Amino acid sequence: MKVTRSLAIGVGHYLPERVVENAEFTRWLDTSDEWIRTRTGIERRHFAAEGEKTSDLAIRASEMALADAGISGNDLDAIVLSTATPDRTFPATAVRVQEAIGMRRGFAFDLQAVCAGFVFALGTADAMIRAGSARRVLVIGAETFSRILDFNDRATCVLFGDGAGALILEAAEGSGESSDRGILATDLNSDGRLANLLYVDGGPSSTGTAGVVRMQGQEVFKHAVLKLAETGGRALAAAGLEADDVDWLVPHQANLRIMKMTASKLGIPPERVVTTVEDHGNTSAASIPLALSVAASEGRFRRGDLLLMEGIGGGLAWGAVALRW
Ligand code: ACO
Repeated sequence: MKVTRSLAIGVGHYLPERVVENAEFTRWLDTSDEWIRTRTGIERRHFAAEGEKTSDLAIRASEMALADAGISGNDLDAIVLSTATPDRTFPATAVRVQEAIGMRRGFAFDLQAVCAGFVFALGTADAMIRAGSARRVLVIGAETFSRILDFNDRATCVLFGDGAGALILEAAEGSGESSDRGILATDLNSDGRLANLLYVDGGPSSTGTAGVVRMQGQEVFKHAVLKLAETGGRALAAAGLEADDVDWLVPHQANLRIMKMTASKLGIPPERVVTTVEDHGNTSAASIPLALSVAASEGRFRRGDLLLMEGIGGGLAWGAVALRW
């Protein structure tokens, strides 16, 4: 049966210039490079410069993705940008990207599911493509999490970084079989009862401030391993595939231990897991497309490889996408 598939046709990323090594935090915090490395796998992260906004990172990542696809801004029908750190409360950060890349048609909007944002954005873009409301969609994850960190809270501020990644999807005809290229299945979830495990303590309609990240790390850790393994399994099952079929697991990059435990629960060997958390820290919605783009530019993916992307974050919100490259 003929079906519409969302094909990945271009990928890109951007990291701010400033690199912050773990050791820098020891200047004002009771922490160590060793603690951060062994508990999280993080060695360094990038922080945006003063005045450098989420849209600035998103624009650079989008330009790289457009060049990779060999198309221009006007060839796009839509932009879905996932961020928890928008330039402004409104308008959407996506419209600044739209303007900057010379896209004079279509529509652009933001979507917010924190660290699960990119899989939610992919799910949304895929649904729009399959419904026929857009043929080419630029999907972006972009964050300046350094703006919402409490730099006196050692349990959170060492974990996050800034960056952006982008993937362009295009409608293509598929056979409906799991051998098709493009997005084969998505699995999205949230549970608002768990909202207080990970949140920002501010917002326009509550405090009138941007707020900072608050987290019960151990609780989030436990939910993350269980829920990521489950959602990954469900996405694969929905595509008619199994863990053995996965060429690359591209997980949200929060913590190396979470990634290893999830991969092992799913039955995917560590050498098939893409990790960039060492160099990027947790960049929330940007982490999956950043990992994707870095691995793609290293030539690690071959046409036809099966990628399983999955993420979890505040909400709690979590999900997975199975995509054949
Ligand atoms: N340096 C040194 N010590 C620290 C630091 C630090 N940066 N942070 C916390 N500690 C201390 C704690 O105060 C505690 O000390 P105590 O025993 O004297 O009370 C001790 O280390 C152990 O703290 P735990 O919270 O139990 O440490 P844990 O091994 O759970 O690691 C961590 C903490 C890394 C936050 C872990 O729980 C984690 O990764 N959780 C997942 C959360 C996550 O990744 N969130 C990101 C957003 S959600 C997502 O993307 C999945």
